[in-house]
Amino acid sequence: MDRTTAQRGPSGGLGAEHPLVKGLTSRSRLITAYSGRRPDVLPVWFMRQAGRSLPEYRELRISTGMLNACLDPALASEITMQPVRRHGVDAGIFFSDIVVPLKLAGVDVDIVPGKGPVLGKPVRTAADVAALPPVLPEALAPVADGVRATVAELTERGDTPLIGFAGAPFTLAAYLVEGGPSKDHIRARTLMHADPETWHALMAWAADVTGTFLRAQVLAGASAAQLFDSWAGALSLEDYTRHVAPASARALSFVRDLSYPDPEHAADAVSARAVERNVPIVHFGVGTSELLRAMHDIGTDVIGVDYRVPLDEASRRLGNIVPLQGNIDPAYLDAPWPVLEAHVRDVVERGRSAPSHVLNLGHGVPPETDPTVLTRIVELVHGLGE
Ligand code: CP3
Repeated sequence: MDRTTAQRGPSGGLGAEHPLVKGLTSRSRLITAYSGRRPDVLPVWFMRQAGRSLPEYRELRISTGMLNACLDPALASEITMQPVRRHGVDAGIFFSDIVVPLKLAGVDVDIVPGKGPVLGKPVRTAADVAALPPVLPEALAPVADGVRATVAELTERGDTPLIGFAGAPFTLAAYLVEGGPSKDHIRARTLMHADPETWHALMAWAADVTGTFLRAQVLAGASAAQLFDSWAGALSLEDYTRHVAPASARALSFVRDLSYPDPEHAADAVSARAVERNVPIVHFGVGTSELLRAMHDIGTDVIGVDYRVPLDEASRRLGNIVPLQGNIDPAYLDAPWPVLEAHVRDVVERGRSAPSHVLNLGHGVPPETDPTVLTRIVELVHGLGE
């Protein structure tokens, strides 16, 4: 498919009904902050806000496997909405998983409870890579349908945007080559050096599969896109830049062309054309303090920061010009409230070094988290103003 011409709408590739084009989410706190401006109130959402910390999620999931839940549009949409309703967060993140597009491409992958993604057969040789099936945009219909249902409900309630997401090629390759979760991803990193040609072919395949997944979510109504390179922190800057960053940029090229009219710059009289803004892209990794600039350089708008580096230091490393997202340490969620509150206030203060800030955790919500704590953080932050 020629992705630059396919499904082009009247505005930068997005259809006329897209919530950013219709102006339904473009002035929201989240999109304002992702665009580098400070909204009246600091926006907040939590990575992994949908999921096992919520009793209503555990109840819904009793009889449905994880991947089947992701591929059931009504169920995925309902699970996405649960934390939005409960916590009053400033964004929904579509309930899915980074391996969903692999599954839809026909790869033998499952998500094992308490473990994570597991492959029927690891991908380790040139022949294994050559045999990987392409993903057709049509195969992503259950994802697009789930996004559409979610966005319909969100826009009926107000201006809360939906974030679409995808795994970055390296993080996907870490599962594909290892065959499952691993500590230091050594087999994947060995392939990178031992057989760079096969490595690059694998990364190109992963970029196209995950880019197609991300594009499907944005075209179906997601107002922002987050690329998770969760395991990039296992890499040196040199390896990241040479062997990984080009594939991540290739994945993002699937959404880079998508734009909408900037609500702050209505059509000017001379050209009668509105200024276009691209759909904001967030890039996040764990343990990536040394990679922040390289992760920004692939062409992302916002950097998600994990809990290991304070936001003022992260901002300094990025030249104080990049909107940041993060970085409450999940370890504080189970601490006494005054300890957690002081930590949250410290994160908010440090976030002032950046042009704008979206409060989040430094990694996902742990399953055993008391969800009332998350609601309390949202109330605290919304009460602070900006
Ligand atoms: O609310 C949200 O954040 C949206 C949902 C979401 C899931 N996975 C649902 C999920 C998102 C954004 C992801 C991304 C994801 N999946 C990443 C990147 C983010 C990160 O945490 O670094 C990664 C590395 C994966 C791979 C994966 N899938 C892992 C490590 C696990 C956990 C395994 C376990 O059981 O501990 C999964 C499964 C998974 N993905 C669950 C959920 C809610 C748990 C499955 C269940 O409820 O049975």
